[in-house]
Amino acid sequence: MTAKTLLSLRGLTVRFRLPNGETVAVDGIDLDVAAGEVLGIVGESGSGKSQVLYSLMGLLAANGRAGGQALFEGVDLLSLPRRELDTLRGQQISMIFQDPMTSLNPYRRVGDQIAEGLIVHEGLSRTAARAEAVRMLDRVRIPDAANRARRFPHEFSGGMRQRVMIAMALLARPKLLLADEPTTALDVTIQAQVLDLMAELARETGTAIMLVTHDLGVVARLCDRVAVLYGGRIMEEAGADALFTSPAHPYTRGLLDATPRLEMELTRRLGTIPGTPRSGGGDVIGCPFAPRCSARMARCTTERPAFAERPHLAGTRRVACHLIAEAAE
Ligand SMILES: Nc1ncnc2c1ncn2[C@@H]1O[C@H](COP(=O)(O)OP(=O)(O)O)[C@@H](O)[C@H]1O
Ligand SMILES: [Mg+2]
Repeated sequence: MTAKTLLSLRGLTVRFRLPNGETVAVDGIDLDVAAGEVLGIVGESGSGKSQVLYSLMGLLAANGRAGGQALFEGVDLLSLPRRELDTLRGQQISMIFQDPMTSLNPYRRVGDQIAEGLIVHEGLSRTAARAEAVRMLDRVRIPDAANRARRFPHEFSGGMRQRVMIAMALLARPKLLLADEPTTALDVTIQAQVLDLMAELARETGTAIMLVTHDLGVVARLCDRVAVLYGGRIMEEAGADALFTSPAHPYTRGLLDATPRLEMELTRRLGTIPGTPRSGGGDVIGCPFAPRCSARMARCTTERPAFAERPHLAGTRRVACHLIAEAAE
């Protein structure tokens, strides 16, 4: 891959202060996103997926603090003054949340909300912006767009609202779109359509996507690359094809085993691995998955496995696992 690197996370951490100590939600993540690529981030609930995205956007809760580096075209988002981050967030980086209703103003007509963005970002006149808003609604397949533009958000279905959000997020042709389970609030039958549309529009605008999802079917169809998160760390990162055909990390294997192919097509959800998913907590010395891992060795609980390239495995991939490191020796 020769595409230029857009975002480089280096030792990214997110910690939350608690009344009786601290919890580590993201525990030292190294990850690159290339211009225009679709990177999937998967993992069970509580693994830190959302906090990775929030930290980049300066959206951590008041008791949260990000550490390490998040270099966006060489500029560290974590140490950027608020005003500069605001500018980047409007123009170069966009985010779509789970529930589109929380991001739309319920009291303003949908067409006016889109037009507003066009006036701010593209400098269009009000008349031109209104016309363009209708064109965009049409583009995201909102039927009878000219009429719909004059309606309020509550008059739209959930799927239509999320399509509007996607259109608005891509308005400024951002270089990076952060999408946090953007379709989980929607009817299963329309989730795939909405995601396909998002990927299609992003391809047109050349926008890279970091897509947090529970849905391995979505990953297989849309993502170029996948990072598998557990306990705030990346367990495995690989091309989507390589990950599905030959998962290496015991955690990834568990995730895929728990989701038989046929069932994956039917339910489009992650299954379950025996044991309780780790969620927050203090610092882990070894591997966070060790307590649930059937291949656990002594050093897995005492020594942090390096997240490193494994040339002996298929595809370009990095895995954090002592067992796999030893197999290469
Ligand atoms: N404000 C907070 N205070 C303390 N812990 C938090 C806070 N917000 C999130 N967390 C913890 O961060 C961890 C990761 O959460 P999250 O990124 O939302 O997981 P995911 O998106 O993968 O389901 C969870 O264990 C969660 O409890
Ligand atoms: Mg989440």
